[in-house]
Amino acid sequence: MMDKKVRELLNQQINKEFYSAYLYLEFSNYFEDRGLNGFANWYYVQAQEERDHAMLFYRYLQNNNEKVELDAIAKPDKALDCDMTVLKAGLEHEEYVTSLINDIYAAAYNVKDFRTMQFLDWFVKEQGEEETNANDLITKMELFGSDPKSLYMLNSELAARVYTAPSLVL
Ligand code: FEO
Repeated sequence: MMDKKVRELLNQQINKEFYSAYLYLEFSNYFEDRGLNGFANWYYVQAQEERDHAMLFYRYLQNNNEKVELDAIAKPDKALDCDMTVLKAGLEHEEYVTSLINDIYAAAYNVKDFRTMQFLDWFVKEQGEEETNANDLITKMELFGSDPKSLYMLNSELAARVYTAPSLVL
């Protein structure tokens, strides 16, 4: 039987990950309207990855005979007034998600739930990668975003991102 707090946090994380997918769809939508289809593609792929994360938490709870309780997904609440604001909101959001993963990990550690810790190891690594990716985007935008030709090249680079299923399989 899973610890109540660990179960609640894992269950909440399903919603947080679906919200992340929703937020990145909003970002994708913003860049689609801007005519920057490469940036739009990058966030569209990111939304797909976040949906996968939600499904992994969902499946993990079910595999452990714990009941899943689905909640409403909130409306994305970030003000998207310029390209850099969007990129920075992405980094801020990933740092927040990292803190959530760490909180679940700490709760699992407290009750010696080694199975959940092992499950979360993949997310700890993933969050490191996602923060790096978000930071890299900001750096590239700072370097190249103000020049139309460079922005065009950066947009083309981001258009090449393709979705791949998560390496963690449950
Ligand atoms: Fe699923 Fe980007 O955290």
